[in-house]
Amino acid sequence: MTTATAEAKSNIALIKYWGKRDTRLNLPSTGSLSMTLSSLGTRTTVTLDGALESDELVLNGTPATEDALSRMSRFLDRVRRVGGFRERVRVETDNNFPTRSGLASSASGFAALSLAVTHAAGMDDDPDRLAGLARLGSGSAPRSLLGGLVELQPGVAPDGSDCLPRQLVAPGDWDVRLLVAMNTPDEKEVGSSDGMERTRRSSPLYEGWLRGNRVDLEVALKAVRDRDFHTLGRVTEASCFRMHAAAMGADPPIFYWNPVTLATVRLVRDLRESGVAGYVTIDAGPHVKVLCRPGDVRTLVEAIRGIKGIRQVIEERPGPGAELINASASGPASAG
Ligand code: DP6
Repeated sequence: MTTATAEAKSNIALIKYWGKRDTRLNLPSTGSLSMTLSSLGTRTTVTLDGALESDELVLNGTPATEDALSRMSRFLDRVRRVGGFRERVRVETDNNFPTRSGLASSASGFAALSLAVTHAAGMDDDPDRLAGLARLGSGSAPRSLLGGLVELQPGVAPDGSDCLPRQLVAPGDWDVRLLVAMNTPDEKEVGSSDGMERTRRSSPLYEGWLRGNRVDLEVALKAVRDRDFHTLGRVTEASCFRMHAAAMGADPPIFYWNPVTLATVRLVRDLRESGVAGYVTIDAGPHVKVLCRPGDVRTLVEAIRGIKGIRQVIEERPGPGAELINASASGPASAG
């Protein structure tokens, strides 16, 4: 029996990934740019156990649903093939997201799981292979392997070998913040995998979204290089709204926003007119995340807390890459 524990933080895309060029290999159609968070994340312990007849998954102390277990097991089958081992795996994973927040992200989950299972199985430390495995779990997971601001290149190779994450700014090298404004999801949302696939198949706006995304990514990369906060903020909002517009154009349409989402967007825009520089982004759910600088955190947090329906505002900064906490099979290592 070998065991390993790894931790990975969640990440939020400033330039979004929304659509795949290969659904089997989970390859994105465009590049994306994200910030790895400093607090919200996942810790996962993996045990390879020759006596187990099937994989097991315990999520926050409770046996996971059939759906979650079979998604993980399909992923582990691919890791077993690549790593040349047969043992079934017990996985215990804990998210520190507030309970029932609707924020749970597959990115930190698959980043932590990939790092832990490759170590428990004694596979070598090749970061590109690790990124490729994490991506098979979830397209946004390779970004959580690295800390700070991260680009995920889409690559062109059919096997995905050049779809790799790259750190643009290490944590601590640019002090920006992301405020996660949590409101209440009122109904079950369309998951991101299904949502982006429906958009790709049925939204006439999808091609325009792809074209715009490529330009937005170039603008964002330059803004990050120049540490040009306002340009990064403007293009962050553009990417978010274009992604949601493409999703709303799907058949049937996909809406992730609720009235509190819109109230938060308006508040941030109004504050900007009075000189408080926050820029919004929204993922496959109703929560708004606000990119800002340290000096504006207090004003923004107080104002957002005043919106009816906001439950909590969490302040995040660029956080660390995935880390191995301990392993019985090998010594400590870090993904970046
Ligand atoms: C809106 O990575 O969750 O958060 O690859 O199908 O697992 P799969 O999708 P996922 O999608 C993330 C979508 C997003 C934007 C982003 O994080 O880039």
